[in-house]
Amino acid sequence: MGVTGGIAAYKSLDVLRMLQRHGHGVSVVMTHTAERFVGSASFAALSQREVGTSMFGDADQPGYHHLDVNEGKDLMLIAPASANTIAQMASGFASNLLTSCYLAFRGPVVVAPAMNTSMWLHPATSRNIETLRADGVHLVEPESGLLADGAVGPGRLAEPSSIVAALEAVLGASQARNDLAGVKVLISAGGTREPIDAVRYVGNRSSGRMGWALAAAARDRGAEVVMVQANVDLPREGGIRYIDAPTAAAMRDACRAEFPSCDMLIMCAAVADYRPVAAADGKLDKSKADALTVEMERTTDILAELAALRDDQVLIGFAAEHGPEGLERARGKRTRKAVDMVVHNDAATEGAAFEGPDNVVTIIGPGESEAALPRMSKRECAERILDAACPLVDARPVRA
Ligand SMILES: Cc1cc2nc3c(=O)[nH]c(=O)nc-3n(C[C@H](O)[C@H](O)[C@H](O)COP(=O)(O)O)c2cc1C
Repeated sequence: MGVTGGIAAYKSLDVLRMLQRHGHGVSVVMTHTAERFVGSASFAALSQREVGTSMFGDADQPGYHHLDVNEGKDLMLIAPASANTIAQMASGFASNLLTSCYLAFRGPVVVAPAMNTSMWLHPATSRNIETLRADGVHLVEPESGLLADGAVGPGRLAEPSSIVAALEAVLGASQARNDLAGVKVLISAGGTREPIDAVRYVGNRSSGRMGWALAAAARDRGAEVVMVQANVDLPREGGIRYIDAPTAAAMRDACRAEFPSCDMLIMCAAVADYRPVAAADGKLDKSKADALTVEMERTTDILAELAALRDDQVLIGFAAEHGPEGLERARGKRTRKAVDMVVHNDAATEGAAFEGPDNVVTIIGPGESEAALPRMSKRECAERILDAACPLVDARPVRA
């Protein structure tokens, strides 16, 4: 539990006691400003644990204090969270023990802000809060009421019971789904662009949303996630390692490099099947010819290539098809490439495949199973795909 500098810091003693009554062990990290408001001795006495206040711990102790504090913790709560700490978290600053712990922490994070109404309503704070939400942080909204400075408005720390209830909900959800803990998942997303000349390319409509949803879902189930992404213009999320691979060739290289150490590969990217044999130097000049013929060559089929190099990885491919024969082609793709599952989506179906927030998919495999799912959000779709894939990870022989 992180405590930052504000009048509401005294209420975090109540939150701590309530968490203990719920059976949780709590370790406290305070900012230096928080110590001006409440003494660390109170938190140490109640928690029966050392309170972290300094990045360097005891001068004579070896180790990495911010990593040691995180060790074995299921969730991070910051209550109250000051405007300053929220801004630091949103920008990725790690200038004190608390913000360093935040950046290094891989589990769920719950933040309960408390501040004066003007600070809360300031556009900078709103922006920072949106950034935290996009990073996957769970917010316990402050309440409206009489604030310590006499003003009336939003900004008062949520009641300890509301904070604890929110924390229990997040903890319950994350623990129920820790089925990918210790598993490294490699995901590709987006659409490659194959250069024609210095400024033009052959591309496709993939937005990367499906891959983004898969990455967030796998991360939230405890996986280590590596995302190889091609030209995706979506906010990056915390707890995911991104590798940029804008062309089919770059994506092949990145996937080959990461594949041997991964346990599951999900090829969700729309990789060009053909690329111009050679990209022209500079910009092609339209005054030189009325028509342009670009000679194209086949790119490497990354999934098929990696399937041939497979050790015991679980392999999942995507088949974006168009029209009624697509499903049969997707079934064929699975057998031909010898992968565990192929997720078929039909770009001709309303609400499916590219760009939008939803998808309509058929999950082919594992084994003889085939599940045609109704239209649902890409996140829900991602969860269903991982539900089907998780038993395959568990069924593998244990690696030496
Ligand atoms: C009496 C007093 C009360 C304060 N209350 C708050 C508050 O409720 N929320 C807040 O964001 N900042 C508040 N501040 C300002 C913070 O203490 C200040 O921004 C500080 O840099 C926060 O540091 P920290 O985020 O490292 O704890 C208060 C300052 C004082 C002097």
